[in-house]
Amino acid sequence: MEIIETVGSMKARIAAWKAEGLTVGLVPTMGSLHAGHESLMDAARAACDRVVVSVFVNPLQFGPDEDFDAYPRDIDRDGAICDAHGVDAVFHPTAEEMYLPAHNTYVVMETLTDALCGASRPGHFRGVCTVVTKLFNIVQPDRAFFGQKDAQQLAIIKRMVADLNMNVAVVGCPIVREEDGLAKSSRNAYLSPEERQAALVLSRAIRAGEAAVAAGERDGAALRALMAAIVEAEPLARIDYIEVVDGATMQPTDRIGASALIAMAVYIGSTRLIDNFLYEEE
Ligand code: PAJ
Repeated sequence: MEIIETVGSMKARIAAWKAEGLTVGLVPTMGSLHAGHESLMDAARAACDRVVVSVFVNPLQFGPDEDFDAYPRDIDRDGAICDAHGVDAVFHPTAEEMYLPAHNTYVVMETLTDALCGASRPGHFRGVCTVVTKLFNIVQPDRAFFGQKDAQQLAIIKRMVADLNMNVAVVGCPIVREEDGLAKSSRNAYLSPEERQAALVLSRAIRAGEAAVAAGERDGAALRALMAAIVEAEPLARIDYIEVVDGATMQPTDRIGASALIAMAVYIGSTRLIDNFLYEEE
C-alpha cells in the first residue's frame, strides 16, 4: 500500500489504473480512523478493483472557533488500518498541496445546506463540497463511499453529483456504533469518562424516536419533544438542534412523510456530537 502526498502522483497512479481498465473506489476521510471508516473501506474493497482512502483534515470546512488545530492526526496509525483493510493507496496531501495560495473557487450549494449542521456551522458545507469536488477530480472514482452518520453531508453530496453531472456513484453506508450505542466518531476521543457515559443520551434519544415512529408517531413536534426530553435529562448535555427534515430536500417538516431524516447535534461538555435516523415508508 502506498501513501501518496501530491496531487500529481495521485493522478498518475489513477491514470495507470484506468489504462488497465480497473475501477476505482474512493473513501474520503479526515483520518483518525475508526470502525465507521473501516466499514466504508470494506464496502469499497468489495465493489471496486482499486481502493483509495483520502486522509485530509480540510481546513476549509472548519469554522474559526472549531477544532481544526485539535483534530486528532496520526497518519502512521491510519496507514496501518488502511493496509489491514486491503486499501491500495492513501492520499494524504498537505493543506498547501490542496489549496494553492491563489485558490479562489468554491462549490456552494443552496437550500440543502440551510438546516441542521448547515445552520449551526456556517461555511461548513461549502468546505465539504469544495474538497469533495477536488477529491473527485483528482481520484476520478467510479464509486465514492460516505456514511449515513453524516446524513446531511450524504444528501448534499448526492445532490451535488446529480446537479453537476459528476461521473461517480455515491454509495451510502449505515452508521457503525459502539456496543453501548454511541455512534463511532473521531470526536469521541475528546470525551472524559464521565462525558463518555453522558454521551449515551444521543443514541438513547435516537432509539426512542425510532420506536415512536415505528409505533405510528407522525407529528414532528411531538417526536422532537420526546427526544429533547431524553437529552435534557442529562446535565452534561446541551442541545444544538434536534430536527425533523424531509429526507431528500433537508427542509424542516411538521409531518413525517414518505422519507424523513430525524437528526440531532448535542454538545457533551465542549464536544459536539451528531446522530440521526432515517425513516423511509415501505
Ligand atoms: P470524517 O468525519 O472523517 O468521515 C469520513 C466518512 O466516514 C464520512 O462519510 C462519514 O459519514 C463516515 N463515518 C464517520 N463515522 C461513521 C460511523 N460511525 N458510521 C459510518 N460512517 C461513519 O466526513 C468527513 O470526514 C469529511 O467531511 C469529508 C467527507 C472527508 C470531507 O472533508
